[in-house]
Amino acid sequence: MSEYHDVLEELNKHTSLHDKVITAHKSIREIFPFIVRIAITIYDPDTNILKTYLHSSGDDNPLNHYQASLDDAPSLKAILDKGLPRIVNNLLTFEEGENEHTKRIGRQGYAASYTLPMFNNGAFFGFIFFNSDKTDVFTDSVLRQIDVYAHLISLAVINELTSIHTLTAAVKTTSRITHLRDPETGSHLDRMSRYSRLIATILADEYNLDDVYIEHIFMFSPLHDIGKISIPDNILLKPGKLTDKERTIMKTHAVKGREMIDDLLKNFGLENIEYIDMLRNIAELHHEAINGSGYPSGIKGNAIPIEARIVAVADVFDALTSARPYKEAWSNEKAINTLKSLAGKTLDQDCVNALLQNMDQIEIIQQQFVENSYG
Ligand code: C2E
Ligand code: SIN
Ligand code: SIN
Ligand code: FE
Ligand code: FE
Repeated sequence: MSEYHDVLEELNKHTSLHDKVITAHKSIREIFPFIVRIAITIYDPDTNILKTYLHSSGDDNPLNHYQASLDDAPSLKAILDKGLPRIVNNLLTFEEGENEHTKRIGRQGYAASYTLPMFNNGAFFGFIFFNSDKTDVFTDSVLRQIDVYAHLISLAVINELTSIHTLTAAVKTTSRITHLRDPETGSHLDRMSRYSRLIATILADEYNLDDVYIEHIFMFSPLHDIGKISIPDNILLKPGKLTDKERTIMKTHAVKGREMIDDLLKNFGLENIEYIDMLRNIAELHHEAINGSGYPSGIKGNAIPIEARIVAVADVFDALTSARPYKEAWSNEKAINTLKSLAGKTLDQDCVNALLQNMDQIEIIQQQFVENSYG
């Protein structure tokens, strides 16, 4: 049991989830050298999509940034339906599989795999995969030992997801308590967070963004305007153009947002969430401009963190195509032309291109999250 004890200690430390999984993997390999990869996928119940979240092997992972609908992965769905782990002692047969998901797994070249569903309070939230480079290795006694690790890893994942959930709940409660009648509706946040994730996915290879980063931009981007809570209603909800004085007050939402995030993280003990600086950057820097004309700091180009540049494009595109108290919704065509003219000046060129070159997917998101009646 001593290996488990050491791993448990490691999993309790304030290291990143990714480091925890790598440590667990190292420890497993000492006993079972044939386990060459541990991977975790997370399930989004809203869209029925499974996403690769993180894995312990090197970068050359054919399933990186891979998403699949649970309905397109029948053998994974069967795990859930039966409520039992899946043991495939010869994966090589998957290469002749019928659907794309199956073939991709076959092409990875792993010889065998053991897959367990992860549950939190009875709710399914993802899978954990143990991949082997040898066939016929997953015997009962091996599985019993691996199960202990799987349990520890799933607790670490729950811990991470719960922290983020707590943070999101704290933010929602805060905005309700302050009676924010936010002109930015829930569906704005649904759309812009998915545009942000789409842009990050397109830029992933060039900017070296891993799946955890992509998932965090999705989770954190809805909090970009949290600082608007501090803006008085007569300015926030003004049906017309802001005066210079009002505009100056409005602009404080960026720094206010950063301060609120810092406060929340401190009060809820969430300062150790992985990638948490992304959230601070998104709240504070989503109105910075590439040419330095933005606020609050006027920083330029690459000095603006990529998460802030991504969220800026997603936010502006959705602000343009949505109705606001001060403007009508624009057509996609008009918004596209505006983005083109802003690219390289205020908005990041690569982020704008990523969005414009994937308008088919943007339109799907728009259809999926239509403006609701609270708007
Ligand atoms: P928002 O409504 O979420 O808009 C976010 C950003 O989208 C704006 O940041 C701006 O960059 C872009 N945007 C929105 N509408 C337009 C538009 O008609 N044309 C162009 N070219 N860009 C647009 P910005 O300007 O820093 O504004 C931040 C926030 O200040 C806005 O968030 C909104 O809440 C408020 N705001 C800005 N202008 C006005 C206004 O004239 N009247 C009122 N009531 N609020 C305004
Ligand atoms: C993975 O290995 O990342 C998931 C693929 C699968 O076994 O369905
Ligand atoms: C299948 O698609 O039938 C098997 C692949 C999987 O979902 O793991
Ligand atoms: Fe803003
Ligand atoms: Fe916004």
